[in-house]
Amino acid sequence: MARRVAIVNNKGGVGKTTTVVRLAEGLAKEGKKVLVVDMDPQGNASEMLGWVHDPAQKQPTISQAIKANTEGAARGVIQPIGWDALYAERIALAPATLHLENRMAEAGLSGAWRRLLTALEGADDHFDFTLFDCPPSVFHLTQLALAAAHDVVIVTEADIYAIEAAKRIRVFVEERAPRDLANATLSLRGVVINALTSTAVQTEQRDSARRIFGDLIWDPSIRHRTALAEAGTDAAPLTDARCAEPRAMFELLTQTFLKAVPSA
Ligand SMILES: Nc1ncnc2c1ncn2[C@@H]1O[C@H](COP(=O)(O)OP(=O)(O)OP(=O)(O)O)[C@@H](O)[C@H]1O
Ligand SMILES: [Mg+2]
Repeated sequence: MARRVAIVNNKGGVGKTTTVVRLAEGLAKEGKKVLVVDMDPQGNASEMLGWVHDPAQKQPTISQAIKANTEGAARGVIQPIGWDALYAERIALAPATLHLENRMAEAGLSGAWRRLLTALEGADDHFDFTLFDCPPSVFHLTQLALAAAHDVVIVTEADIYAIEAAKRIRVFVEERAPRDLANATLSLRGVVINALTSTAVQTEQRDSARRIFGDLIWDPSIRHRTALAEAGTDAAPLTDARCAEPRAMFELLTQTFLKAVPSA
C-alpha cells in the first residue's frame, strides 16, 4: 500500500492544490511513484496536472470509483497526467469533475465514509505515495480522504482566518478521526505556510503560526510568486527558467516531506 497523505484546510484558496501538485512533482523528481487523488469537485489538481475534461467523453473519475463501493474500484480510474516532462511518467491521477458533488448526497448513508478507503484497496499498491487534494471543507469529501489517509498535511496562509481553520483541522484529526472515521493512527505531520509575503501583518501571522504549531511548521515557507500561479494555470511543470525560484522552494519542501512522512 502507498503511504497516503491528505492535504487539508477548510479555508479556501490557501494553496492546497498547488502544494499537492508541486509536492507530487518534487517527489517524482526524487524517483518516487505518486498517485494524486483529486477529491475536489472543482477539479483544479486534475487541470493543473494537464488532464483535460471532455464532457463528450465518458471519462473515468474518482467519483465513479467511490460510487461503486467495491474493493479496488479506483484501479479503473487511475490515468497518466498530461505534462511533458520525463519524470511525469511517475505521477498518475485519479481525476475529478463537478460530478464528484453527487457523492455528497451519500454522506448520510451507513458507512459511506469508508468508500474511498474501499475503492483504493489494492489500487495504489505500486505507488510510494498517494496524495489527496481535498476541497475547502471538512465535510464528506474530505472525510473520505481522512478515513483513507495515514497522514495529514495542513496548508495555510499567514492569515488569521486560515490559521484558525488550520487549528480546527488539527482538532478534527486528533479527536474526530479516531471516533467518527475509525482512523486512530491518522497523524498530522506538518503545516505548510504558503504565499508568504514580507508585509508586517504576514510576518506577525507567520510568527503566530509558529507559536501555535511549533515544530510542525515545515521549512521552507512558500513565498508568493506569480510564476508559480502562472505555471498552475498553464498546467505546466516547473521546468521553465521563470520558475527557478518556486522550483527550488518545492525541492526543499519535498526533502522536508520525505523526512516528516514515513515511507510505505
Ligand atoms: N505561493 C503562491 N504564489 C502565488 N500564487 C499562488 C501561490 N500559491 C497558490 N497560488 C495561487 O492562488 C490560487 C489558489 O491556489 P490553490 O488553488 O492552490 O488553493 P486551494 O487551497 O487549493 O484552493 P481551493 O480551496 O479553492 O481548493 C491559485 O490561483 C494559485 O495559482
Ligand atoms: Mg484546491
